[in-house]
Amino acid sequence: MSIIFFLLLLSSCTSCVLSADVNDGLVLLKIKEQLGNPQELSNWVEGFQYCGGSAFSNNAQMQCDNNGRVNYLVLQVITASAPFPEAICDLTELEGLTINSLYNLYGPIPSCINQLSNLHLFDIERTGLSSLPELLFLNHEKLHDLILSSNAFSGSIPASLSTIPTLNHLDFSNNSLKGTIPPDLVHGQYATLFLNDNRLTGEIPKCYLWVPLGSIYARNNKLTGDPSFLFNKENIYAIDLSHNDFEFDLSNVEISKSLRSLYLGFNKIYGNIPQSIASADHYIDLDFRNNKLCGEIPQRQIFPWQPFEASIFADNKCLCGSPLPPCKNPGSAP
Ligand SMILES: *[C@@H]1O[C@H](CO)[C@@H](O)[C@H](O)[C@H]1NC(C)=O
Repeated sequence: MSIIFFLLLLSSCTSCVLSADVNDGLVLLKIKEQLGNPQELSNWVEGFQYCGGSAFSNNAQMQCDNNGRVNYLVLQVITASAPFPEAICDLTELEGLTINSLYNLYGPIPSCINQLSNLHLFDIERTGLSSLPELLFLNHEKLHDLILSSNAFSGSIPASLSTIPTLNHLDFSNNSLKGTIPPDLVHGQYATLFLNDNRLTGEIPKCYLWVPLGSIYARNNKLTGDPSFLFNKENIYAIDLSHNDFEFDLSNVEISKSLRSLYLGFNKIYGNIPQSIASADHYIDLDFRNNKLCGEIPQRQIFPWQPFEASIFADNKCLCGSPLPPCKNPGSAP
């Protein structure tokens, strides 16, 4: 009986035989070894059932395709003090990789990662990894989500990322990145760009006017220039440019119908609060704190019962009028 069952299993599983030369189980054991055999992976042993089997734990999850190849791998909260385990580059069918909260992982992300041409999701968060290959995912054809937040990356954003036509969600927040923002980093509907909490300099490239950007978060960098071309962009939804060195005249800026949040606090922005802000026919979350703005604040027309909060205008040069104290000479700058 069991022999017949075994034969049935064998015949229904010719692909296992075909792919016998690539044994992802051995690759996983190599990864474990390169991580210094951490205790969290103690159930990874020779012959273990890594495809949807008993190896599933809080710290490690794997998923396999029909050929028994690992296509998703999650490693999280593992106390491994080691460089990036290069054996990961041998999991050539990987579509999704997540490494989260391996705080003591150190050194570079190796360039062999570029071999993983099936990746849709590459998510490395909360590690001590400190550099990226200069050519990262050049002309990659599938990558959709690239999340590299809260690591220790220094150097600049690899310009090669501009060559990925499918990249829709890019998150570099909370690193130590320097240099300028490359053009055309994200593509497609509702594209999002998280660059906050770095040391980026220069201007936001004008080409982002034509990229279908949904949200841009660039808070807490050293960016300069006039990014107001983004505010009236079709389908723009959220903009956070606070805590930078932007210096421009806000007075005549127009606001997109789709915009729902505009955070510009802690810059060097001058001029008046534009009329477009007050006449917007939808609610926008705003922050203009700590700039060099001046003049009478225009009164909200569509939601007069929902006045602006005073705190969003705090610490400017000479803003006045409700919700701040009245202007000395109403209608003109004091
Ligand atoms: C920034 O990254 C560090 C190191 O990974 C982490 O400890 C910290 O919580 C992160 N901060 C935020 C706001 O995510």
